[in-house]
Formats: sequence, C-alpha cells, structure tokens
Amino acid sequence: MAAGGALVSMLGLVASPAFCFPWDIDMYRTPAVQPYAVAPRVTPSDTLPVDGEPPISLEMATVKMHNPLEPTPGNLAAGKELFLTNCAPCHGSSGEGDGPVTKILIKPAQNLVAGASKDLPDGYIYGAITDGILTMPSYADSLPPHQRWQVVLYVRSIQQAAAAAAAH
Ligand code: HEC
Repeated sequence: MAAGGALVSMLGLVASPAFCFPWDIDMYRTPAVQPYAVAPRVTPSDTLPVDGEPPISLEMATVKMHNPLEPTPGNLAAGKELFLTNCAPCHGSSGEGDGPVTKILIKPAQNLVAGASKDLPDGYIYGAITDGILTMPSYADSLPPHQRWQVVLYVRSIQQAAAAAAAH
C-alpha cells in the first residue's frame, strides 16, 4: 500500500511539473502551419517585388528594354561563358544555329548571326532570353537580368564579327 502510494506520488511529480510527457516528441507535435493552409499574401497594387521582376512580353521587351551595360571586356567575357553554357547547345558556339541539340527540335534553332536575326533589337534578344520562344526555354529563373544583358552584348559582338568577316 505504502509502495503503491509512493508510485502514485512519483508519477504525479513526474507528470504534473513537466506537463507534456512524453518529452521526446514535443517538437514533433508543434502546431505547424501546413503549406497553403493559409492563403499566400496578395501583392498590394502599385508595388513591385524587391527581388525578382515583373513579367514582360517579348513585344514590350523589344520596345522598352535597353541594355544598361557597356561592352567592356569583363561583360563580354561573362556573356561568352554564359552563351557557351546556355545557348550554344542549340544556337551553336558561333551562333550559327548548328548546336548539337538543334537536330532534335521540331523547329531548328535560329542562326543568330545572319539574316533578319542579326538586326534584332537588344530588347528583343533580352525578351527572347526572358520568355523563351517555342522550343527555346525561358531563362528567367536561371539568368538574372544583368547576365541576360551580358549575353545580349556577346550575341551583338559575334554578329558584328560575322558581319565584318562577310564584308572581307
Ligand atoms: C533548346 C534550344 C535552345 C536554346 C538552349 C536556346 N535557344 Fe534561342 N531559339 C531556339 C529556337 C528553336 C528558336 C526559334 C524560335 C522560332 O522559330 O520562333 C530560337 C530563337 C532565338 C532568338 C530569336 C531569333 C529570331 O530571329 O527571331 C534569339 C534572339 C535567341 N533564340 C537567343 C537565344 C539565347 C541568347 C540563348 C541562350 C540564353 C538561347 N537562344 C538558347 C532554341 C534555343
């Protein structure tokens, strides 16, 4: 009897101050908010996100976007590396539309250094990189705006080099 009483009071001692026995799953049982249990906040009107960019159509980009970067050796070198990584698989390392992936596309990648493509406005090339065209993917998530402009500078430089080579 005495032993039973001692056991009850021991349990009482253990359970009441700690309250939340068993302790090992305390963290597990927190009142977590499940994804989408609460609706995401709506962006207030007339505001822009601090990070990221508002969506822009190819047409708007063509008219509105102008390259803020200068064709410095640093920007051209960065643009070249980005072009060779992201664009050359389809457009070819010299932009002539002869990359290895282009063979498997329903519509081949354009030759960027000849025909009408060589005279495209900077904003159009920027818009094409941002939005993608048909089988050309969008690079909005993988290339931040300044890298897209570096690619535009590099595309311009290979177009000029191709035009100079054709003139001789
Ligand atoms: C998966 C293959 C693929 C990749 C990678 C790709 N492109 Fe394209 N690109 C295409 C195809 C296909 C078209 C033609 C779309 C059409 O006919 O309307 C195109 C069209 C374009 C055009 C428009 C040409 C014109 O005359 O209208 C530009 C500019 C361009 N790409 C630039 C780039 C740049 C810069 C990159 C790298 C950031 C890139 N592309 C990566 C497949 C690709």
